[in-house]
Amino acid sequence: MSLLDKHSIIEKNATLLLVGSFLVVTIGGIVEIAPLFYLDNTIEKVEGMRPYSPLELAGRNIYVREGCYTCHSQMIRPFRDEVERYGHYSLAAESMYDHPFQWGSKRTGPDLARVGDRYSNEWHVQHLIEPRSVVPESVMPTYAFLKTTRLEVKDIKYHLEANKAVGVPYSQEMIDNAEADLKAQADPNASTSDLLARYPKAKVGDFDGDPAVLTEMDALVAYLQMLGTLVDFSTYDEAAGYR
Ligand code: HEC
Repeated sequence: MSLLDKHSIIEKNATLLLVGSFLVVTIGGIVEIAPLFYLDNTIEKVEGMRPYSPLELAGRNIYVREGCYTCHSQMIRPFRDEVERYGHYSLAAESMYDHPFQWGSKRTGPDLARVGDRYSNEWHVQHLIEPRSVVPESVMPTYAFLKTTRLEVKDIKYHLEANKAVGVPYSQEMIDNAEADLKAQADPNASTSDLLARYPKAKVGDFDGDPAVLTEMDALVAYLQMLGTLVDFSTYDEAAGYR
């Protein structure tokens, strides 16, 4: 009896075929799923990722509050058109400190995962105040009030604590210095060495064009300017992962 003849027994018997298929799918499923229960973390570590600085976190809260995610994703997919337009496709590790994450496919506006450093602070401020003054065909709403709304800084410590509770590795030192770090990042005259030791690569200085007042615009622009700037992709090898 050849192998094909044996197979015809299964093919001609619906019950046997069902049982056989079920067995194959079960074994395949166990092989794929079981190892996940033994791994602490499925995210491959990438050098450069750190928790958000207090000012960036405040900006991120505004981003979420204003619903920017209803038009913008932060997830570059590994397709040629996306990689050519936005840069290296997003790695899981790049959003491991995001609560809530900003993945998605709703793109009324462009993906923002790597918008940091792409424009000047002045461009962002002007664009947020009146998008059509820099991109005439834009349908993005205006957010001019951010420039005149003082940033609430008193509660920033609790935002760090809340993120810590869900797994972001903020140290006690970071929490204790949250308010001071937040103010130092947006103050062009402040000493920023402690801040930069805690949050490497943080952008410092005035963001909204008015160093005298700390506004929600400062925080949001600080957040936008750091997006996608932490990982150094010249040291990241596609095939082998991290070198
Ligand atoms: C109604 C949809 C909509 C909402 C809500 C929205 N945007 Fe946009 N955004 C757009 C569109 C469309 C563009 C492309 C045209 C332009 O540059 O204005 C854009 C462009 C941008 C750009 C430039 C991106 C690039 O690569 O050129 C940034 C930065 C940006 N938006 C930030 C924000 C932020 C921050 C918020 C929330 C405060 C927000 N957007 C809310 C639709 C939206």
